[in-house]
Amino acid sequence: MKRIVVLASGRGSNFQAVIDKVADRTIPAEICCLITDNPEAYAIKRAEEVGVPVTVINVSTYPDRSAYDSALEAAMTEAKADLFILAGYMQLLSPETVRRFALKMINIHPALLPSFSGLHAQQQAINYGVKVAGCTVHFVDEGMDSGPVILQRSVPVLDNDTEDSLAERILFEEHYALPEAVRLFCTDSLQIEGRRVTITP
Ligand code: GRF
Repeated sequence: MKRIVVLASGRGSNFQAVIDKVADRTIPAEICCLITDNPEAYAIKRAEEVGVPVTVINVSTYPDRSAYDSALEAAMTEAKADLFILAGYMQLLSPETVRRFALKMINIHPALLPSFSGLHAQQQAINYGVKVAGCTVHFVDEGMDSGPVILQRSVPVLDNDTEDSLAERILFEEHYALPEAVRLFCTDSLQIEGRRVTITP
């Protein structure tokens, strides 16, 4: 059974989607802790409800960024996890941390990468005028939303979409894509060759 750690900064609906698939044994893993940078995150309540320990590493309580980076890396190391899931984690990880956990860290992004990386991906998609949007689960590398792609799911962009309405349609697909990517990882079904990730049948 794999050990997984989730990093989340806010609402935690993707975290909940993973909790649910661990609970019904679709994902053969144990969630060993939630790490958050936000002491007010609703994700904390979700963790408490299912007895997942929470570690709060609040940037503003550290003297500088590198002290925060070290504390985060120490917490991640201590967890001895097989997989770290960034599920709406709003802090950038230091290049050292990314290197240390290379190919053990995945992220969910609300766009069809490599289009619209960074913040407000859904608004970027509307502004650009694309007709199809979606979400991407990918391994984390040192770039911004740039690591090898594991899964993508698409949705239409409608003429009257707002950032919120498109985000809601994409989020529905995120709740499928993220647990599915975690399941594939936890069943050793992912093969990585350079940028290409394939799923073993
Ligand atoms: C999701 O849209 C995710 O793609 C992005 O941040 C949002 C987090 O939502 N990285 P939630 O906290 O999982 O509800």
